[in-house]
Amino acid sequence: MRNLSAIVLAAGKGTRMKSTIPKVLHPVAGKPMLFYPLNLLKELGARKVVAVVGFGKDSVKAAFPSDNLTFALQEDQLGTGHAVSIALKHLKGFSGDVLILSGDVPLITKGTVTALIKMRGGAKGPVLSFISTVLENPSGYGRVVRDKNNAVARIVEDKDCGPLQKRINEVNAGIYLVDYDFLSVNIKKLGKKNAQGEYYLPDIVEMAVEQGRKVTALTHIDPYEVMGINNRVELAKANKLMRQRISEGLMLSGISILDPDNTYIDYGVKVGLDTVIYPGVRLSGNTEVGQRCVIEEGSIIIDSSIGEGSAVKSYTIMESTKAGKGVSIGPFARLRPGNLIGDSARIGNFVEVKKTSIGKGSKANHLSYLGDSIIGAGVNIGAGTITCNYDGVKKYQTIIEDGAFIGSDTQLVAPVKVGKNAYVGSGTTVTKDVLPGSLVITRAPEKVIEGWSKRKMKKG
Ligand code: UD1
Ligand code: CA
Repeated sequence: MRNLSAIVLAAGKGTRMKSTIPKVLHPVAGKPMLFYPLNLLKELGARKVVAVVGFGKDSVKAAFPSDNLTFALQEDQLGTGHAVSIALKHLKGFSGDVLILSGDVPLITKGTVTALIKMRGGAKGPVLSFISTVLENPSGYGRVVRDKNNAVARIVEDKDCGPLQKRINEVNAGIYLVDYDFLSVNIKKLGKKNAQGEYYLPDIVEMAVEQGRKVTALTHIDPYEVMGINNRVELAKANKLMRQRISEGLMLSGISILDPDNTYIDYGVKVGLDTVIYPGVRLSGNTEVGQRCVIEEGSIIIDSSIGEGSAVKSYTIMESTKAGKGVSIGPFARLRPGNLIGDSARIGNFVEVKKTSIGKGSKANHLSYLGDSIIGAGVNIGAGTITCNYDGVKKYQTIIEDGAFIGSDTQLVAPVKVGKNAYVGSGTTVTKDVLPGSLVITRAPEKVIEGWSKRKMKKG
Protein backbone atom coordinates (compact mmCIF):
# COMPACT_ATOMS: atom_id res chain seq x y z
CA MET A 1 0.00 0.00 0.00
CA ARG A 2 1.19 3.52 -0.79
CA ASN A 3 1.60 6.16 1.90
CA LEU A 4 -1.77 7.45 3.00
CA SER A 5 -2.67 10.89 4.28
CA ALA A 6 -6.16 12.22 4.68
CA ILE A 7 -8.20 15.37 4.46
CA VAL A 8 -11.58 15.69 6.12
CA LEU A 9 -13.80 18.53 4.99
CA ALA A 10 -15.58 20.11 7.90
CA ALA A 11 -15.56 23.86 7.40
CA GLY A 12 -19.04 24.38 6.05
CA LYS A 13 -21.77 25.99 8.08
CA GLY A 14 -24.29 23.47 6.96
CA THR A 15 -26.81 26.14 5.97
CA ARG A 16 -29.47 23.55 5.30
CA MET A 17 -29.29 22.36 8.92
CA LYS A 18 -30.61 25.78 10.00
CA SER A 19 -28.55 25.68 13.15
CA THR A 20 -26.32 27.83 15.32
CA ILE A 21 -23.84 24.99 15.75
CA PRO A 22 -21.58 23.66 12.99
CA LYS A 23 -23.12 20.80 11.06
CA VAL A 24 -20.30 18.36 11.82
CA LEU A 25 -20.97 18.69 15.56
CA HIS A 26 -24.55 17.51 15.34
CA PRO A 27 -24.62 14.12 17.04
CA VAL A 28 -25.16 10.77 15.40
CA ALA A 29 -25.65 7.98 17.96
CA GLY A 30 -24.15 10.17 20.65
CA LYS A 31 -21.00 11.30 18.84
CA PRO A 32 -20.51 14.42 16.75
CA MET A 33 -20.85 13.49 13.09
CA LEU A 34 -17.21 14.31 12.43
CA PHE A 35 -16.11 11.67 14.93
CA TYR A 36 -16.90 8.87 12.47
CA PRO A 37 -14.60 9.80 9.56
CA LEU A 38 -11.85 10.70 12.01
CA ASN A 39 -12.23 7.40 13.80
CA LEU A 40 -12.17 5.53 10.51
CA LEU A 41 -8.91 7.24 9.56
CA LYS A 42 -7.44 6.24 12.89
CA GLU A 43 -8.39 2.63 12.15
CA LEU A 44 -6.87 2.86 8.68
CA GLY A 45 -3.63 4.17 10.13
CA ALA A 46 -3.49 7.32 8.00
CA ARG A 47 -0.11 8.98 8.39
CA LYS A 48 -1.41 12.49 8.72
CA VAL A 49 -4.98 13.73 9.01
CA VAL A 50 -5.88 17.31 8.20
CA ALA A 51 -9.36 18.49 9.15
CA VAL A 52 -10.49 21.65 7.41
CA VAL A 53 -12.46 23.81 9.81
CA GLY A 54 -14.07 27.20 9.41
CA PHE A 55 -17.55 27.85 10.65
CA GLY A 56 -17.52 27.39 14.44
CA LYS A 57 -13.86 26.35 14.26
CA ASP A 58 -13.22 26.75 17.97
CA SER A 59 -16.03 24.46 18.98
CA VAL A 60 -15.04 21.91 16.33
CA LYS A 61 -11.42 21.96 17.49
CA ALA A 62 -12.47 21.70 21.13
CA ALA A 63 -14.56 18.63 20.34
CA PHE A 64 -11.51 16.80 18.93
CA PRO A 65 -8.48 17.53 21.06
CA SER A 66 -6.15 15.03 19.48
CA ASP A 67 -2.43 15.25 18.83
CA ASN A 68 -2.69 13.28 15.60
CA LEU A 69 -5.05 15.73 14.02
CA THR A 70 -4.00 18.87 12.17
CA PHE A 71 -6.56 21.63 11.74
CA ALA A 72 -6.47 23.77 8.62
CA LEU A 73 -8.45 26.97 8.76
CA GLN A 74 -10.68 27.91 5.87
CA GLU A 75 -11.86 31.41 6.82
CA ASP A 76 -14.34 31.77 3.98
CA GLN A 77 -16.08 28.69 2.65
CA LEU A 78 -15.45 29.08 -1.04
CA GLY A 79 -16.14 25.46 -1.88
CA THR A 80 -14.84 21.93 -1.36
CA GLY A 81 -11.98 22.49 -3.83
CA HIS A 82 -10.88 25.58 -1.95
CA ALA A 83 -11.05 23.63 1.32
CA VAL A 84 -8.75 20.95 -0.07
CA SER A 85 -6.27 23.54 -1.37
CA ILE A 86 -5.98 24.93 2.15
CA ALA A 87 -5.53 21.46 3.65
CA LEU A 88 -2.78 20.64 1.15
CA LYS A 89 -0.60 23.38 2.63
CA HIS A 90 -0.24 21.09 5.63
CA LEU A 91 0.78 18.12 3.50
CA LYS A 92 3.73 19.73 1.68
CA GLY A 93 6.46 17.26 0.82
CA PHE A 94 4.13 14.28 1.13
CA SER A 95 4.33 11.50 -1.40
CA GLY A 96 1.54 8.98 -1.82
CA ASP A 97 -2.25 9.04 -1.83
CA VAL A 98 -4.60 11.48 -0.21
CA LEU A 99 -7.91 10.16 1.00
CA ILE A 100 -10.54 12.88 1.10
CA LEU A 101 -13.58 12.35 3.30
CA SER A 102 -16.50 14.56 4.13
CA GLY A 103 -17.28 15.44 7.70
CA ASP A 104 -20.96 15.03 6.90
CA VAL A 105 -20.83 11.41 5.69
CA PRO A 106 -20.69 9.46 8.96
CA LEU A 107 -22.00 6.06 7.88
CA ILE A 108 -19.13 5.19 5.57
CA THR A 109 -17.47 1.96 6.66
CA LYS A 110 -13.90 0.82 6.87
CA GLY A 111 -14.67 -1.99 4.40
CA THR A 112 -15.77 0.42 1.70
CA VAL A 113 -12.85 2.79 2.11
CA THR A 114 -10.48 -0.17 2.12
CA ALA A 115 -12.03 -1.29 -1.17
CA LEU A 116 -11.39 2.20 -2.59
CA ILE A 117 -7.77 1.99 -1.50
CA LYS A 118 -7.43 -1.47 -3.05
CA MET A 119 -8.83 -0.08 -6.30
CA ARG A 120 -5.89 2.28 -6.42
CA GLY A 121 -3.57 -0.68 -6.52
CA GLY A 122 0.10 0.08 -7.10
CA ALA A 123 1.79 3.08 -8.69
CA LYS A 124 0.22 2.27 -12.06
CA GLY A 125 -3.32 2.39 -10.72
CA PRO A 126 -5.77 5.22 -11.37
CA VAL A 127 -4.58 8.64 -10.38
CA LEU A 128 -7.98 9.31 -8.93
CA SER A 129 -10.75 7.07 -7.67
CA PHE A 130 -13.92 7.99 -5.91
CA ILE A 131 -17.05 6.37 -4.53
CA SER A 132 -20.37 6.60 -6.31
CA THR A 133 -23.75 5.11 -5.67
CA VAL A 134 -27.09 4.84 -7.37
CA LEU A 135 -29.97 6.68 -5.76
CA GLU A 136 -33.63 6.58 -6.54
CA ASN A 137 -33.81 10.25 -5.69
CA PRO A 138 -30.42 11.76 -6.55
CA SER A 139 -31.45 15.37 -6.02
CA GLY A 140 -28.89 17.47 -4.17
CA TYR A 141 -25.94 15.27 -5.12
CA GLY A 142 -23.32 15.68 -7.83
CA ARG A 143 -24.10 13.38 -10.78
CA VAL A 144 -21.55 11.07 -12.33
CA VAL A 145 -21.53 11.71 -16.08
CA ARG A 146 -20.16 8.81 -18.13
CA ASP A 147 -19.07 8.76 -21.78
CA LYS A 148 -20.40 6.44 -24.46
CA ASN A 149 -18.00 3.75 -23.32
CA ASN A 150 -19.42 4.08 -19.85
CA ALA A 151 -16.19 5.54 -18.51
CA VAL A 152 -16.39 8.36 -15.98
CA ALA A 153 -16.20 11.71 -17.75
CA ARG A 154 -16.96 14.24 -15.04
CA ILE A 155 -19.13 15.11 -12.08
CA VAL A 156 -21.80 17.76 -12.42
CA GLU A 157 -23.28 19.37 -9.33
CA ASP A 158 -27.03 19.23 -8.85
CA LYS A 159 -27.41 22.96 -9.32
CA ASP A 160 -25.42 22.87 -12.56
CA CYS A 161 -27.27 19.93 -14.11
CA GLY A 162 -29.32 20.32 -17.23
CA PRO A 163 -32.64 18.46 -17.38
CA LEU A 164 -31.08 15.29 -18.81
CA GLN A 165 -28.26 15.25 -16.28
CA LYS A 166 -30.78 15.72 -13.47
CA ARG A 167 -32.09 12.29 -14.39
CA ILE A 168 -28.75 10.57 -13.81
CA ASN A 169 -29.04 8.35 -10.77
CA GLU A 170 -25.38 7.67 -10.19
CA VAL A 171 -24.11 10.21 -7.67
CA ASN A 172 -20.78 11.24 -6.23
CA ALA A 173 -20.39 10.24 -2.59
CA GLY A 174 -17.75 12.89 -1.91
CA ILE A 175 -15.06 10.35 -1.00
CA TYR A 176 -11.91 10.38 -3.11
CA LEU A 177 -8.48 8.78 -3.20
CA VAL A 178 -6.08 10.92 -5.20
CA ASP A 179 -2.41 10.92 -5.93
CA TYR A 180 -0.84 13.77 -3.98
CA ASP A 181 1.22 15.14 -6.87
CA PHE A 182 -1.73 15.17 -9.24
CA LEU A 183 -3.96 16.79 -6.63
CA SER A 184 -1.56 19.52 -5.60
CA VAL A 185 -0.92 20.59 -9.18
CA ASN A 186 -4.53 20.48 -10.33
CA ILE A 187 -6.26 21.94 -7.30
CA LYS A 188 -4.76 25.28 -8.31
CA LYS A 189 -6.47 25.12 -11.67
CA LEU A 190 -10.02 24.91 -10.34
CA GLY A 191 -12.32 27.68 -11.43
CA LYS A 192 -15.61 28.84 -9.99
CA LYS A 193 -17.69 29.47 -13.05
CA ASN A 194 -20.64 27.46 -11.88
CA ALA A 195 -24.09 27.90 -10.40
CA GLN A 196 -22.78 28.35 -6.87
CA GLY A 197 -19.68 30.40 -7.71
CA GLU A 198 -17.61 27.90 -5.69
CA TYR A 199 -14.42 25.96 -6.25
CA TYR A 200 -15.79 22.45 -6.72
CA LEU A 201 -13.47 19.62 -5.75
CA PRO A 202 -15.29 17.13 -8.04
CA ASP A 203 -14.03 19.16 -11.03
CA ILE A 204 -10.68 17.39 -10.62
CA VAL A 205 -12.36 14.32 -12.10
CA GLU A 206 -12.83 16.01 -15.46
CA MET A 207 -9.29 17.43 -15.27
CA ALA A 208 -7.82 13.98 -14.80
CA VAL A 209 -9.87 12.57 -17.67
CA GLU A 210 -8.84 15.43 -19.97
CA GLN A 211 -5.21 14.84 -19.11
CA GLY A 212 -5.62 11.21 -20.15
CA ARG A 213 -5.16 9.96 -16.60
CA LYS A 214 -7.04 6.96 -15.34
CA VAL A 215 -10.08 7.64 -13.16
CA THR A 216 -12.25 4.96 -11.60
CA ALA A 217 -15.36 4.94 -9.49
CA LEU A 218 -16.13 2.40 -6.82
CA THR A 219 -19.79 1.92 -7.60
CA HIS A 220 -22.93 0.39 -6.14
CA ILE A 221 -21.99 1.04 -2.58
CA ASP A 222 -24.92 0.80 -0.17
CA PRO A 223 -26.52 4.23 -0.58
CA TYR A 224 -27.03 4.50 3.15
CA GLU A 225 -23.33 4.26 3.73
CA VAL A 226 -22.52 7.29 1.65
CA MET A 227 -25.50 9.36 2.64
CA GLY A 228 -24.47 12.97 3.20
CA ILE A 229 -26.22 14.81 5.97
CA ASN A 230 -27.37 18.22 4.90
CA ASN A 231 -30.57 18.76 6.86
CA ARG A 232 -32.30 17.47 9.96
CA VAL A 233 -34.38 14.95 8.09
CA GLU A 234 -31.18 13.29 6.89
CA LEU A 235 -29.72 13.68 10.38
CA ALA A 236 -32.62 11.70 11.82
CA LYS A 237 -32.21 9.02 9.15
CA ALA A 238 -28.49 8.74 9.80
CA ASN A 239 -29.14 8.40 13.52
CA LYS A 240 -31.61 5.63 12.88
CA LEU A 241 -29.22 3.78 10.59
CA MET A 242 -26.26 4.15 12.92
CA ARG A 243 -28.33 2.91 15.86
CA GLN A 244 -29.53 -0.02 13.80
CA ARG A 245 -25.91 -0.86 13.03
CA ILE A 246 -24.98 -0.63 16.71
CA SER A 247 -27.94 -2.72 17.86
CA GLU A 248 -27.31 -5.39 15.24
CA GLY A 249 -23.66 -5.56 16.26
CA LEU A 250 -24.69 -6.08 19.88
CA MET A 251 -27.34 -8.66 19.07
CA LEU A 252 -24.89 -10.66 16.99
CA SER A 253 -22.47 -10.61 19.90
CA GLY A 254 -25.00 -12.14 22.31
CA ILE A 255 -27.16 -9.37 23.69
CA SER A 256 -30.96 -9.51 23.46
CA ILE A 257 -32.63 -6.33 22.32
CA LEU A 258 -36.36 -6.87 22.38
CA ASP A 259 -37.29 -4.02 20.05
CA PRO A 260 -34.21 -2.69 18.26
CA ASP A 261 -36.21 -0.06 16.37
CA ASN A 262 -37.08 1.55 19.66
CA THR A 263 -33.81 1.19 21.53
CA TYR A 264 -31.24 3.96 21.54
CA ILE A 265 -27.70 2.82 22.15
CA ASP A 266 -24.86 5.24 21.54
CA TYR A 267 -21.69 4.42 19.70
CA GLY A 268 -19.10 3.02 22.09
CA VAL A 269 -21.50 1.74 24.76
CA LYS A 270 -20.46 -1.70 25.99
CA VAL A 271 -22.95 -4.40 26.92
CA GLY A 272 -22.12 -7.82 28.33
CA LEU A 273 -23.26 -11.23 27.13
CA ASP A 274 -26.84 -12.34 27.80
CA THR A 275 -28.01 -8.95 28.91
CA VAL A 276 -31.60 -8.22 27.92
CA ILE A 277 -32.62 -4.74 26.86
CA TYR A 278 -36.30 -3.81 26.81
CA PRO A 279 -37.96 -1.31 24.46
CA GLY A 280 -37.49 2.41 24.87
CA VAL A 281 -34.15 2.13 26.65
CA ARG A 282 -31.46 4.74 26.06
CA LEU A 283 -27.83 3.88 26.81
CA SER A 284 -25.68 6.96 26.28
CA GLY A 285 -22.15 8.24 26.50
CA ASN A 286 -19.50 6.29 28.28
CA THR A 287 -21.74 3.51 29.55
CA GLU A 288 -20.92 -0.07 30.30
CA VAL A 289 -23.46 -2.72 31.25
CA GLY A 290 -22.17 -6.06 32.52
CA GLN A 291 -23.23 -9.59 31.64
CA ARG A 292 -26.66 -11.04 32.42
CA CYS A 293 -28.26 -7.72 33.30
CA VAL A 294 -31.83 -6.73 32.57
CA ILE A 295 -32.52 -3.15 31.57
CA GLU A 296 -36.26 -2.61 31.56
CA GLU A 297 -38.33 -0.33 29.38
CA GLY A 298 -37.91 3.39 29.34
CA SER A 299 -34.71 3.46 31.36
CA ILE A 300 -32.11 6.08 30.52
CA ILE A 301 -28.52 5.32 31.46
CA ILE A 302 -25.86 7.95 30.80
CA ASP A 303 -22.11 7.72 31.46
CA SER A 304 -22.64 4.92 33.98
CA SER A 305 -21.48 1.41 34.64
CA ILE A 306 -23.53 -1.48 35.96
CA GLY A 307 -22.03 -4.71 37.19
CA GLU A 308 -23.06 -8.18 36.08
CA GLY A 309 -26.35 -9.74 37.07
CA SER A 310 -28.00 -6.43 37.86
CA ALA A 311 -31.54 -5.25 37.16
CA VAL A 312 -32.45 -1.75 36.16
CA LYS A 313 -36.21 -1.70 36.34
CA SER A 314 -38.60 0.36 34.25
CA TYR A 315 -38.25 4.10 33.88
CA THR A 316 -35.08 4.54 35.84
CA ILE A 317 -32.81 7.47 35.08
CA MET A 318 -29.18 6.99 35.92
CA GLU A 319 -26.37 9.41 35.26
CA SER A 320 -22.61 9.20 36.02
CA THR A 321 -23.14 6.39 38.47
CA LYS A 322 -21.05 3.35 39.10
CA ALA A 323 -23.08 0.37 40.26
CA GLY A 324 -21.67 -2.97 41.37
CA LYS A 325 -22.80 -6.52 40.70
CA GLY A 326 -26.26 -7.86 41.42
CA VAL A 327 -27.82 -4.51 42.18
CA SER A 328 -31.48 -3.74 41.71
CA ILE A 329 -32.43 -0.21 40.76
CA GLY A 330 -35.90 1.16 40.11
CA PRO A 331 -38.57 1.14 38.86
CA PHE A 332 -38.81 4.94 38.74
CA ALA A 333 -35.51 5.62 40.47
CA ARG A 334 -33.47 8.71 39.72
CA LEU A 335 -29.72 8.53 40.14
CA ARG A 336 -28.17 11.93 39.58
CA PRO A 337 -24.43 12.17 38.94
CA GLY A 338 -21.76 10.98 41.31
CA ASN A 339 -23.00 7.78 42.94
CA LEU A 340 -21.26 4.57 43.84
CA ILE A 341 -23.70 1.75 44.42
CA GLY A 342 -22.21 -1.33 46.11
CA ASP A 343 -22.79 -4.94 45.11
CA SER A 344 -26.28 -6.32 45.83
CA ALA A 345 -27.63 -2.94 46.92
CA ARG A 346 -31.24 -2.08 46.20
CA ILE A 347 -32.60 1.30 45.18
CA GLY A 348 -36.36 1.17 44.84
CA ASN A 349 -39.14 3.26 43.41
CA PHE A 350 -39.16 7.04 43.73
CA VAL A 351 -35.74 7.15 45.30
CA GLU A 352 -33.47 10.02 44.28
CA VAL A 353 -29.76 9.61 44.88
CA LYS A 354 -27.01 12.17 44.27
CA LYS A 355 -23.26 12.19 45.06
CA THR A 356 -23.79 9.27 47.37
CA SER A 357 -22.01 6.04 47.98
CA ILE A 358 -24.05 3.11 49.15
CA GLY A 359 -22.35 0.06 50.61
CA LYS A 360 -22.79 -3.58 49.84
CA GLY A 361 -26.28 -4.97 50.36
CA SER A 362 -27.79 -1.72 51.61
CA LYS A 363 -31.38 -0.93 50.73
CA ALA A 364 -33.36 2.19 50.06
CA ASN A 365 -36.51 0.68 48.70
CA HIS A 366 -39.02 3.50 48.66
CA LEU A 367 -39.53 7.25 48.35
CA SER A 368 -36.31 8.78 49.60
CA TYR A 369 -33.78 11.50 48.88
CA LEU A 370 -30.17 10.59 49.54
CA GLY A 371 -27.77 13.38 48.62
CA ASP A 372 -24.10 14.03 49.49
CA SER A 373 -24.05 10.93 51.65
CA ILE A 374 -21.77 8.10 52.57
CA ILE A 375 -23.81 5.07 53.44
CA GLY A 376 -22.12 1.90 54.68
CA ALA A 377 -22.92 -1.76 54.09
CA GLY A 378 -26.06 -3.53 55.27
CA VAL A 379 -27.90 -0.28 55.95
CA ASN A 380 -31.67 -0.10 55.72
CA ILE A 381 -33.11 3.22 54.66
CA GLY A 382 -36.83 3.38 55.43
CA ALA A 383 -39.46 4.92 53.20
CA GLY A 384 -39.57 8.69 53.18
CA THR A 385 -36.04 9.23 54.44
CA ILE A 386 -34.59 12.58 53.48
CA THR A 387 -31.05 13.80 53.80
CA CYS A 388 -31.45 17.54 54.39
CA ASN A 389 -28.16 18.41 52.72
CA TYR A 390 -28.73 22.06 51.91
CA ASP A 391 -29.25 25.03 54.21
CA GLY A 392 -29.89 27.46 51.40
CA VAL A 393 -26.22 28.38 51.15
CA LYS A 394 -24.05 25.29 51.42
CA LYS A 395 -24.30 21.55 50.94
CA TYR A 396 -23.42 19.21 53.81
CA GLN A 397 -22.65 15.54 54.14
CA THR A 398 -24.55 12.75 55.84
CA ILE A 399 -22.71 9.66 57.01
CA ILE A 400 -24.54 6.46 57.86
CA GLU A 401 -22.31 3.67 59.08
CA ASP A 402 -22.60 -0.07 58.46
CA GLY A 403 -25.65 -1.88 59.73
CA ALA A 404 -27.59 1.24 60.74
CA PHE A 405 -31.38 1.19 60.52
CA ILE A 406 -33.07 4.38 59.42
CA GLY A 407 -36.79 4.25 60.21
CA SER A 408 -39.38 5.59 57.83
CA ASP A 409 -40.01 9.31 57.53
CA THR A 410 -36.64 10.30 58.92
CA GLN A 411 -34.95 13.60 58.23
CA LEU A 412 -31.18 13.63 58.58
CA VAL A 413 -30.12 17.26 58.92
CA ALA A 414 -26.58 17.37 57.58
CA PRO A 415 -23.82 17.52 58.56
CA VAL A 416 -24.71 14.52 60.64
CA LYS A 417 -23.49 11.01 61.28
CA VAL A 418 -25.38 7.90 62.29
CA GLY A 419 -23.00 5.40 63.91
CA LYS A 420 -22.61 1.73 63.21
CA ASN A 421 -25.68 -0.41 63.99
CA ALA A 422 -27.52 2.62 65.34
CA TYR A 423 -31.31 2.71 65.08
CA VAL A 424 -33.29 5.74 64.10
CA GLY A 425 -36.95 5.58 65.09
CA SER A 426 -39.61 6.43 62.52
CA GLY A 427 -40.42 10.10 62.13
CA THR A 428 -37.19 11.29 63.70
CA THR A 429 -35.43 14.50 62.75
CA VAL A 430 -31.78 13.76 63.39
CA THR A 431 -29.72 16.90 63.98
CA LYS A 432 -26.89 15.55 66.13
CA ASP A 433 -24.49 12.67 65.53
CA VAL A 434 -25.84 9.33 66.73
CA LEU A 435 -23.43 7.07 68.59
CA PRO A 436 -22.90 3.53 67.29
CA GLY A 437 -25.42 1.03 68.58
CA SER A 438 -27.78 3.64 70.05
CA LEU A 439 -31.42 4.50 69.38
CA VAL A 440 -32.45 7.98 68.46
CA ILE A 441 -36.02 9.14 68.34
CA THR A 442 -37.74 12.52 68.25
CA ARG A 443 -41.45 12.28 68.36
CA ALA A 444 -44.21 14.53 69.64
CA PRO A 445 -46.20 12.67 72.32
CA GLU A 446 -49.22 11.00 70.81
CA LYS A 447 -52.56 12.33 72.04
CA VAL A 448 -55.90 10.55 71.70
CA ILE A 449 -59.03 12.64 72.29
CA GLU A 450 -62.05 10.39 72.41
CA GLY A 451 -65.26 11.39 70.65
CA TRP A 452 -63.60 14.40 69.05
CA SER A 453 -64.92 13.88 65.53
CA LYS A 454 -68.51 13.56 66.58
CA ARG A 455 -68.34 16.77 68.62
CA LYS A 456 -66.73 18.66 65.73
CA MET A 457 -69.45 17.50 63.32
CA LYS A 458 -72.22 18.80 65.61
CA LYS A 459 -70.59 22.22 65.91
CA GLY A 460 -70.08 22.49 62.17
C1 UD1 B 1 -20.72 17.46 -2.18
C2 UD1 B 1 -20.21 17.26 -3.60
C3 UD1 B 1 -21.20 16.44 -4.39
C4 UD1 B 1 -21.49 15.13 -3.68
C5 UD1 B 1 -21.88 15.36 -2.21
C6 UD1 B 1 -21.90 14.05 -1.48
C7 UD1 B 1 -18.93 19.29 -4.08
C8 UD1 B 1 -18.92 20.58 -4.81
N1 UD1 B 1 -20.03 18.55 -4.21
O1 UD1 B 1 -21.90 18.22 -2.26
O2 UD1 B 1 -20.71 16.18 -5.67
O3 UD1 B 1 -22.51 14.44 -4.34
O4 UD1 B 1 -20.93 16.20 -1.56
O5 UD1 B 1 -22.32 14.19 -0.15
O6 UD1 B 1 -17.96 18.93 -3.46
N2 UD1 B 1 -16.94 22.08 3.02
C9 UD1 B 1 -15.84 22.78 3.43
N3 UD1 B 1 -15.57 23.98 2.85
C10 UD1 B 1 -16.31 24.52 1.88
C11 UD1 B 1 -17.45 23.79 1.45
C12 UD1 B 1 -17.74 22.58 2.04
O7 UD1 B 1 -15.11 22.34 4.31
O8 UD1 B 1 -15.98 25.61 1.41
C13 UD1 B 1 -17.24 20.79 3.65
C14 UD1 B 1 -18.59 20.76 4.32
O9 UD1 B 1 -18.46 21.15 5.67
C15 UD1 B 1 -19.00 19.29 4.20
C16 UD1 B 1 -18.31 18.84 2.93
O10 UD1 B 1 -17.31 19.80 2.64
O11 UD1 B 1 -18.53 18.53 5.28
C17 UD1 B 1 -19.27 18.76 1.74
O12 UD1 B 1 -19.84 20.02 1.52
P1 UD1 B 1 -21.37 20.21 1.19
O13 UD1 B 1 -21.65 21.67 1.06
O14 UD1 B 1 -22.21 19.44 2.12
O15 UD1 B 1 -21.41 19.58 -0.27
P2 UD1 B 1 -22.62 18.95 -1.02
O16 UD1 B 1 -23.47 20.05 -1.59
O17 UD1 B 1 -23.30 17.96 -0.19
CA1 CA C 1 -23.05 17.33 1.89
